[in-house]
Amino acid sequence: MENNKKTHFGYEEISSADKGARVRGVFDSVADNYDLMNDLMSLGLHRLWKKALLELAELPPNPMILDIASGTCDIPKMIIQSHNSARVQVTDINSSMLELGRNRAIDENFISNCFFLTASGEELPYQDETFDLVTIGFGLRNFTDKNKGLNEMHRCLKPNGHLLVLEFSKPNNSLFEKVYDWYSFNILPKMGKFFAHDEQSYQYLAESIRMHPDQENLKHMILNEGFKKCNFYNFQNGIVSIHKAIK
Ligand SMILES: C[S@@+](CC[C@H](N)C(=O)[O-])C[C@H]1O[C@@H](n2cnc3c(N)ncnc32)[C@H](O)[C@@H]1O
Repeated sequence: MENNKKTHFGYEEISSADKGARVRGVFDSVADNYDLMNDLMSLGLHRLWKKALLELAELPPNPMILDIASGTCDIPKMIIQSHNSARVQVTDINSSMLELGRNRAIDENFISNCFFLTASGEELPYQDETFDLVTIGFGLRNFTDKNKGLNEMHRCLKPNGHLLVLEFSKPNNSLFEKVYDWYSFNILPKMGKFFAHDEQSYQYLAESIRMHPDQENLKHMILNEGFKKCNFYNFQNGIVSIHKAIK
């Protein structure tokens, strides 16, 4: 069945069965330059977006947190630095990215609060109702089946637990959108080529952002998976949004 299902890898239509490997290939390729490229491409703004996510997190004492698509651990690090009793399950489908995150947690001394696991956000290896908070930063648009992933996040949250999804979204100003499109398709791939010797992965980045559901559609998808409430917050004219949902 899986072999007949179709999905998108950027603008390309591919078999769902192939998407995980294609996405893993992108992040294997970008892993070594990931943090540098994040700072260059967003002019450092990704740090502010992640800080905003932290500000939206409402945590009980000794919180149990799941961070999906953790990459180099920016979100786990910020959470642990502000809540030193937090225990964070750090997960990613890509072991090269997770290894960078783990090395960073050792070097920057927050590893004692972290538990690392290579896992897909679409098949979470955790029991029902385990976490107070599930976070995912710039990961959801890479999923093969986003509904399945959101359903898994809902399953693993405790009742009244919170989900925070930080992701690229749709600009709400048409002039701004034109400039942003020009930057995404003309500058980003060239920056990828120059700094990371990898143009294609950054072309995928630009395309995957356009294929991702806009703010309202993502809100409906989240509510359809059983969350009782969902609000979103836009940043930089909607280039990025944070959806906050309650189970
Ligand atoms: C753009 S990076 C984001 C990393 C980090 N959260 C951040 O905000 O800097 C996207 C990450 O999503 C991971 N990823 C892609 N598909 C995934 C999936 N189905 N399940 C879990 N992680 C996934 C990639 O391996 C990559 O590390």
